[in-house]
Formats: sequence, structure tokens, C-alpha cells
Amino acid sequence: MFKNLKYKNPNKYLIKKNLFIRNFEKLYQKIEDPWNQHLNFFEEESVIILKSLIEKFSNKRKKLNLLDVGAGKGSLKKILKKNISYVGTDIHNKKYKDIFYDDITKFNKKFKNKFNFIICLKTVYYVGDKIKIVLNNFKKYLKKNGFLIISYNLKKKSFSNKYLTDLKLRKMLKKKLIEVYTIEINRELSQLNDKEEKTTLLIFKK
Ligand SMILES: C[S@@+](CC[C@H](N)C(=O)[O-])C[C@H]1O[C@@H](n2cnc3c(N)ncnc32)[C@H](O)[C@@H]1O
Repeated sequence: MFKNLKYKNPNKYLIKKNLFIRNFEKLYQKIEDPWNQHLNFFEEESVIILKSLIEKFSNKRKKLNLLDVGAGKGSLKKILKKNISYVGTDIHNKKYKDIFYDDITKFNKKFKNKFNFIICLKTVYYVGDKIKIVLNNFKKYLKKNGFLIISYNLKKKSFSNKYLTDLKLRKMLKKKLIEVYTIEINRELSQLNDKEEKTTLLIFKK
């Protein structure tokens, strides 16, 4: 029933004249599900890989806290086992269960040393110009030995490339945390057409 919905580009509310305008308020008024989470979230390669990574890194007996930032509707919760306690945050004001308003560019002291996992899927693109603050916050929110998993999508002509690339992000993370794996999907950006995306999954540990 959803397949016939016409795709509307969310970026026209977020980027204008080569600058971030980030009018998320208007975006969410105009587009019901801007990220098409109802369509393809569970088929994305990065989500399939993420599911097995979380299972691999989880201690089955212990209760673990997971923070999903830029969570959208919180679809990620559906792939988690019961021993993982899920909190999602986002900057929309929609009422979804377990999703709370929080801006990742602002430090939230309630999250300090609280999480075994921080997951940030397809979101750093929108804060590429504030990435240092965002990574500092993530590090403070992690418990010792906690995992930070970021997915970063980019196209050859992505707007965000002028602030951030996957290589720069990896370099910054390596200075702050311990690298576990970095996984590249569609590695050679130069060989993709303008519409295709490269996805990098960065997995780091505190
Ligand atoms: C492309 S969507 C990804 C949603 C979901 N993580 C997924 O993989 O389907 C990017 C999300 O980041 C959120 N976002 C953008 N800037 C943010 C910020 N500063 N703080 C928190 N969330 C933000 C948006 O509202 C949006 O839900």
C-alpha cells in the first residue's frame, strides 16, 4: 500500500544555496515519513550487518542500554533482542514510543556514561559542520567498553562532503576511540553514478 507514495526530497528543507538551513520543523510538517523508514529500513545492508554486530557484542545475560540517535520512528528497536533496553532520540516532536526529543549537537548530561551502545544511522550527514561536538558528546555518553556504531552515506556529489567524508570521520574517531571494524559498502565512490551511494559503517569502542 505504501509502494505508490511519491518520493519527496527532504533535503530541500535542510540545504539551501549551498548552506545548511535545517528547517526540520517544516520538513516534518510537509512530509509524513521523509526517510522512507516504512519501506526499506530492514532491507538496508547496513542494518542487516548492524543486527549481527549487536548480537556479537552483546553479553546475553546482562541488560544493556542502547541509544539510537537520529532514530526517526525508532525502527531499529524491532531488530533488538529483549536484553537490550532501547532509547531513541531525534529532533522531531512526533510521538513515537521510546523516542525523545534531543539534539545531538547539544550535550545532554542525563546521558553521561550511560550507554553500552550508541547507534547513529544516516544522521551525521546533517551535522557534518558540527561533527567535533557530536563525537565528543557520543564519547561522554558511552560507558567504558561501550560501542559506537555510525553509518555514513555519501554520494559523489553529496553536499555534506565539503565538511565531512567517511575518511575524515574515521580519522577523527581513531583519535578518540578504539577502532573495531570499518566496513565499506560500494567502496569505490568514483565508480558510482551520481544517484548511487557509498555506505561506511564505522564501529568503535571506548
Ligand atoms: C536520514 S534520517 C535517518 C533515520 C534513521 N536513523 C534511519 O536509519 O532510518 C536522519 C535523522 O536524523 C535526525 N537528525 C538530524 N539532525 C539531528 C540532530 N541534530 N539531532 C538529532 N537528530 C537529528 C533527523 O530528524 C532524521 O530522523
